[in-house]
Amino acid sequence: MSELGDGCIQLMVTSPPYPMVAMWDELFCKADSTIAELWPKLEADGDWATVRKIYDTMHSYLAQVWAETHRVLCDGGIAAINIGDATRNINSKFQLFPNHSRITEVCEKIGFTTLPYILWKKPTTKPTYKGKGAFLGSGFLPPNAYITLDCEFILLFRKGKLRKFEPYHTKRYESAFTKTQRDEWFSQIWAIKGIRQTSGELERRTAAYPDEIAERLIRMFSVKGETVLDPFLGSGTTAKVAIKNERNIIGYESDLTLLSTITQKIQQAKIDMAATVEIVKRL
Ligand SMILES: C[S@@+](CC[C@H](N)C(=O)[O-])C[C@H]1O[C@@H](n2cnc3c(N)ncnc32)[C@H](O)[C@@H]1O
Repeated sequence: MSELGDGCIQLMVTSPPYPMVAMWDELFCKADSTIAELWPKLEADGDWATVRKIYDTMHSYLAQVWAETHRVLCDGGIAAINIGDATRNINSKFQLFPNHSRITEVCEKIGFTTLPYILWKKPTTKPTYKGKGAFLGSGFLPPNAYITLDCEFILLFRKGKLRKFEPYHTKRYESAFTKTQRDEWFSQIWAIKGIRQTSGELERRTAAYPDEIAERLIRMFSVKGETVLDPFLGSGTTAKVAIKNERNIIGYESDLTLLSTITQKIQQAKIDMAATVEIVKRL
């Protein structure tokens, strides 16, 4: 994000590719040749140390973005990262990869202050036991079944001290939320339907989050007229919601095939809000 100056962003809202979730394997391989070399090595030697190396390298890739985010955030700026843990069976060994704790450790090392996080509970529409969808393991018999991962995390970090505003800052007052919104948004569990349950193929391909997630975070942690960053735009949900809520948005997406989806998503918001949008292709 070399074109962004230090401290020019008030809020980062994003969801990165999830380490050790199969749908993102190819992306991580393309992004880092070490990972591309390690998967075939793992198939050949079956060594669990190789799995750990793959996991570490995936997080090192993401860590570069968390470090840049820290640089571009203003003092008191917030980073909100939606991440899910992963479970995977590798060489007949089943394991949890706790992405949320790894990102927390990395962000603390970078210098962020960790804040209480949100658990996004997706009401499941999967069939249960007899349909064999929701539960992994041995039905009703103890002790070898596994817990279903039906929550994702929205990790929250702050750079530096609390932000300060002059008394009766107009834009801040115009950005206020209601008591009902405050009571719901600032509680730890958010039960919001996932995009799989509500949207189409393109959103599924990018593992998009619902507008409601971006909307709450943007309204909770930024003021109208401020600038939001999404370093992993995907289908452009954060961009669309930021524009609709009178925030500026800067976003990055490495997959050029998503350009038309992103443009489409922000088109209506752009017209409604008379916003200016600039798309820069950098190869
Ligand atoms: C989980 S998706 C984001 C979904 C998004 N929140 C939405 O609602 O559509 C992660 C995105 O990050 C993109 N990505 C991965 N590495 C990137 C990088 N280094 N720079 C920019 N985008 C990247 C992927 O192509 C993918 O579209």
